[in-house]
Amino acid sequence: MEDLSTVDASLMKQEVLEGLTKPQKQLPSKYFYDERGSDLFEQITRLDEYYLTDCEKEILQSNISEISDRIGSDVMLIELGSGSSYKTRYLLEELLDLSTYIPVDISEEFLLKTVNQLRMEYPKISIIPVFADYTSSFALPVSGNQHQKQIVFFPGSTIGNFNPSESRAFLQNIAEITADDSEMLIGVDLKKDTDVLEAAYNDQQGITAQFNKNMLRHINHVLDADFEVEKFDHNAFYNEEAGRIEMHLVSSQKQTVNVSDQEIAFAEGESIHTENSYKYSLEEFEELVGDWYSVEKVWTDEKDYFSLQYLKKK
Ligand code: AVJ
Repeated sequence: MEDLSTVDASLMKQEVLEGLTKPQKQLPSKYFYDERGSDLFEQITRLDEYYLTDCEKEILQSNISEISDRIGSDVMLIELGSGSSYKTRYLLEELLDLSTYIPVDISEEFLLKTVNQLRMEYPKISIIPVFADYTSSFALPVSGNQHQKQIVFFPGSTIGNFNPSESRAFLQNIAEITADDSEMLIGVDLKKDTDVLEAAYNDQQGITAQFNKNMLRHINHVLDADFEVEKFDHNAFYNEEAGRIEMHLVSSQKQTVNVSDQEIAFAEGESIHTENSYKYSLEEFEELVGDWYSVEKVWTDEKDYFSLQYLKKK
């Protein structure tokens, strides 16, 4: 066993076995992200086909003064997920009067590295890391300045990984743990041509396929499982009815795999559902958040592929 610093192996075992014994086998997409998986995702964000990252950057850059004005001064910025990204630095640079930055991440090692670096670069900003799984309830640190406006920054359309009921639970939780006047800056991927969507998850170089298959390697390492990765094929398609990209790993043959103390049987062509990536229309997203947040402003890129949205707690 390895990787115990970033992954709770007993929780992983429980979740993996639960998913693999369902009629439609499934695995939680959070298990893409061991070190190699995070590196592969970084490569995905640089692919031509993966428009999401470029669109979000374009939106942020083209509207930065308006975004900074909305955010205002003496604020507490709470970022959910990766705190080392280009986007964060860009915001930190532009928000001249940011008082407190709270990166929230489940990877303690990753967070500490980032935080040490950021503290040197931005000595005037008070940086308070929170190690937490933001998909469940977590507490925010009590800061001295209670007057600071709280802004939650949730970029990258990471909310797309949640199904509608998970999204609602997430929004309710964030609304509950933040102050009454808190706001949110969130990246949301939009509905568009199926060809464009499917190309983004089926890149020519096969990086997304490697990323998908890496989940099996990760499980092999942590749980001493014996998935033969080359016997699974990447499959990603747009499920129009559900409004989501689905990623699957398809068994190319009849086989059995040992995971911890259990034997898992696969028929030829049987799949493991590894990820959902929901796409919204602006109306659908406004409806989704409506019980907790009002949409104050929506910025999109030139092609209207992606949106950055400014929400205010109701
Ligand atoms: C990190 C969840 C936003 O859904 O587009 C990229 C993950 N999966 N390529 C997405 C992902 C395959 C990504 N999110």
